[in-house]
Amino acid sequence: MPDRTSLMRRIESVLDSGWLSNGGPMVDELETKVAQRLTAKHVVAVCNGTVALQVMAKACGLAGEVIVPSMTFVATPHAMQWIGLTPVFADVTHADHTLDPESVERCITPRTSAILAVHLWGNPCHVKQLQQVADRNGLKLLFDASHAFGCDCQNRPIGNFGLAEAISFHATKVMHAAEGGVIVTNDDTVAERCRLMRNFGITDLTSIDSAGTNAKMNELCAAAGLTSLESIDDVIQHNQQNMQAYRKAISGVRGLRLAVPPSSERRNSQYVVVEVNQQEFGLNRDGLLQVLRAEGVFARSYFQPGCHNAAPYAGQAGHQPVPMPVTERLLHNVLQLPTGPAVTKNDIRRIGQLLETVHQHAGAVLERVANDDRLGLVPDAA
Ligand SMILES: Cc1ncc(COP(=O)(O)O)c(C=O)c1O
Repeated sequence: MPDRTSLMRRIESVLDSGWLSNGGPMVDELETKVAQRLTAKHVVAVCNGTVALQVMAKACGLAGEVIVPSMTFVATPHAMQWIGLTPVFADVTHADHTLDPESVERCITPRTSAILAVHLWGNPCHVKQLQQVADRNGLKLLFDASHAFGCDCQNRPIGNFGLAEAISFHATKVMHAAEGGVIVTNDDTVAERCRLMRNFGITDLTSIDSAGTNAKMNELCAAAGLTSLESIDDVIQHNQQNMQAYRKAISGVRGLRLAVPPSSERRNSQYVVVEVNQQEFGLNRDGLLQVLRAEGVFARSYFQPGCHNAAPYAGQAGHQPVPMPVTERLLHNVLQLPTGPAVTKNDIRRIGQLLETVHQHAGAVLERVANDDRLGLVPDAA
């Protein structure tokens, strides 16, 4: 949580001013500070990350089909579907779980207008190759950077790639405004269109330019965002130390692999994601998840059932034209371990010991959990 005194001071100031929404000083300040931090020309604050994706897509003139990963939070394809576009799912690379440019290329049809890639877990996408695919095929390249605030790619802050990038400032994110989001772009026209669209398409008191929506961020959320931004370097530093501790704790455990490759570039280290290899570890992901939960470790599995297996996309050929073997595998073996300011190095050492113990006694653990009604685990046949 950001500093409470600082947050309360800002909230008092909003209440004193009586200016709660419609582009007040807090939103202005947040946009300026985020733009400075990301070294980007334009930042447009909106009410959440999903709406940021929608306004960005509309402002960039997307039409027809948009290629997205299935290995993402469902907000990515839903945002496109909700505004009448067709999300088409491509596979990701095993190394970093971001869009595989070759798989993307195989999804392109005459109806494709754009690629919407996701910097999953804060791992930068294969930006250069994706840009080449986009340029070769006359497509726009956009990014969902919801996991990647504070990360660099090719020594530039994420936010500066493609035509525009959308970032969620949801409470679960490293930089948050309770609810909120931003569109980041270096394109003047896209920025101008985003600003109009987030406010009903209104240009001034007497004219309306186009259809718009109400996507505005309010002043209280901007106050929370500014407060979060104040402490973000401390949060990231703590996360990075935690990531180091996890690397050490997990490196000796057979069958577990951290899905966030080490990098000399800046990372926010907000997502500690491991892949569980059932054959080597002795237990599958869901079994391990249940054991961890029973031991009080709040681990999470992502992203079940997988966007392409969820309504309204499941079984629809138009949404899934290519096989996605990597995504299919990851959906069954990816696990997120707890981190953040409340998690200490000592906690991580204990989690590491627990993982090692579960691995060493996997057979007995499997038998025990399978017979434990409270856990209700049905082990995989394989
Ligand atoms: C990858 C990704 N895209 C989009 C979103 C949607 O953002 P919001 O919850 O702010 O609408 C989220 C998470 O919330 C996300 O993780």
